[in-house]
Amino acid sequence: MFFRAVIVFCLAWNITSPGPAMGQDIAAGEDLFNRKCKMCHRLSDGTKQGPGLEGVTARRDESWLHAWLEDPKGMIEKGDPVAVELQKKYKKVMTKIAAMQDEENRKNIIAFLRQNDIKRGAVKE
Ligand code: HEC
Repeated sequence: MFFRAVIVFCLAWNITSPGPAMGQDIAAGEDLFNRKCKMCHRLSDGTKQGPGLEGVTARRDESWLHAWLEDPKGMIEKGDPVAVELQKKYKKVMTKIAAMQDEENRKNIIAFLRQNDIKRGAVKE
């Protein structure tokens, strides 16, 4: 009975807890960022191989971010205007990353980038 109550409570908590962290794991996103993205991207607006990611969750919508992370080259090839513009500017194509084929990983990394934007005041909570 007690355990049932705990489970019901946990489910209810997960459904009702507000904010961008819902169902996503920011810490896991940060870990992924450090392993898979940091060599080419800064969390500030400073350019490395790729653009600085400060404000990226404000300037791109979530579905675009998913599509881009899943297959950057595919987005350029299909003529997505934002992707084509980025490629012209940075003259390098972002690699297709195995971990980004997983939706859960993409959600976690986007949650982490969003938290970075909130911290830097680039988006409002
Ligand atoms: C080998 C270098 C490299 C790696 C690794 C890399 N990127 Fe990129 N990224 C780029 C480049 C270069 C661009 C600019 C577009 C282009 O030409 O491909 C870019 C563009 C982006 C954009 C679009 C930025 C904007 O202003 O719209 C996002 C978002 C992004 N990368 C996120 C990530 C994430 C998250 C990871 C890790 C999972 C990652 N990148 C790993 C090089 C890289």
